[in-house]
Amino acid sequence: MTTFRSLDDANVKGKRVLVRVDLNVPMQDGKVSDSTRIEEIVPTLVELAGRGARVILLSHFNRPKGPDPKHSLRPVVPEIARLTKRQVGFAEDCIGPKAESAIASMKDGDILCLENTRFHPEEEKNDREFAKKLAALGDIFVDEAFSAAHREHASNSAIVTASSLIAYPGRAMKSELDALARAFEHPQHPVAAIVGGAKVSTKLELLGHLLTKVETLIIGGAMANTFLVAKGNAIGKSLYESDLVATARDIMDKAKLLGREVVLPVDAVVAKKLAEQVPSRVVSIDEVGADDMILDIGPHTVEHVVSVLARSKTLVWNGPFGAFEHKPFDNSTIEIAEAAAELTAAGRLVSFAGGGDTVAALNHASVKHRMTHVSTGGGAFLESLEGKTLPGVKVLIVPQNCPVPGE
Ligand code: 3PG
Ligand code: MG
Repeated sequence: MTTFRSLDDANVKGKRVLVRVDLNVPMQDGKVSDSTRIEEIVPTLVELAGRGARVILLSHFNRPKGPDPKHSLRPVVPEIARLTKRQVGFAEDCIGPKAESAIASMKDGDILCLENTRFHPEEEKNDREFAKKLAALGDIFVDEAFSAAHREHASNSAIVTASSLIAYPGRAMKSELDALARAFEHPQHPVAAIVGGAKVSTKLELLGHLLTKVETLIIGGAMANTFLVAKGNAIGKSLYESDLVATARDIMDKAKLLGREVVLPVDAVVAKKLAEQVPSRVVSIDEVGADDMILDIGPHTVEHVVSVLARSKTLVWNGPFGAFEHKPFDNSTIEIAEAAAELTAAGRLVSFAGGGDTVAALNHASVKHRMTHVSTGGGAFLESLEGKTLPGVKVLIVPQNCPVPGE
């Protein structure tokens, strides 16, 4: 069993607590335009400050090549202050005299945000010397950045391995880790997975890994087209990956061998092109015309997917069904999301979802808050579903046979 330290056991009063957060948030006109990632970390920040810690925030922002005011974290600070209802200080560098003097003047309960860690190229190289300089600024390390945990960078990896800092998962990180364990380490069977999106190529490892974990694999999005071609269906002008048809066939063979069900569309909503409110019609999957594009699954497929969910106890969802950004091709995703939310509310399904498009689709269907757990991670959620231990999580694991110290 994987063991993590608990923040409950950390003595943080008067301590400098370095909290790795993911402040890589969308901005518009110099203001935060989507605060989801900040909202997620607020409880941990407020708790630590309330317990008398000196809370020092470490984060990357965008992908700058060296110091660049366009990629400063400064404009994010007012939003952290608004949501934590506390004053939040800012230091113009994440190491060196500017960081040190700002930290030296902190009092218990203060929150300070350090400048973008990626202003130092050593950050992305997971450089140990740079990490030691970061580590020297604190007494305790808390990682609250699940959505950056697939990166092996100095502020979430070497900061622990190159120092003697004791590392704790933050509250939101812990709930992500608990949800993943619930979905994969000891799930209630049967488990169904929905994998959608455009490309098999980006989700190949994911499909292979999921087949060993789930009873039913439901394939949605344009990815399903590659599988349909592998089955010998004509798909007209629909998107697919010709070089992955053989791979799709292998995945279906492997599923058969393992006795897993792969759900593919039996009918589809087709149109002549992808555009808002373009004329569309429902056809059986054997009747897709030469100039048709498959843009959503049809009602019989929706019915089948819903029946699979009704007999499953756990659902893992990554990737929408149709071209959900365009009406009416969002219909199936909305219907299936509603069904998943209802089953979850009735206590019949434990539902996990993650990935940028998936979260957007669940928001669009207004069911995000009715799922058991929706991950903040895009790449991090995907790589977790591939069965990988993320570098940012690895350093939080307490080695076996090692007593779990408070600090
Ligand atoms: C993200 O937004 O995906 C994380 O913050 C990681 O950022 P990156 O993709 O630039 O490494
Ligand atoms: Mg990214």
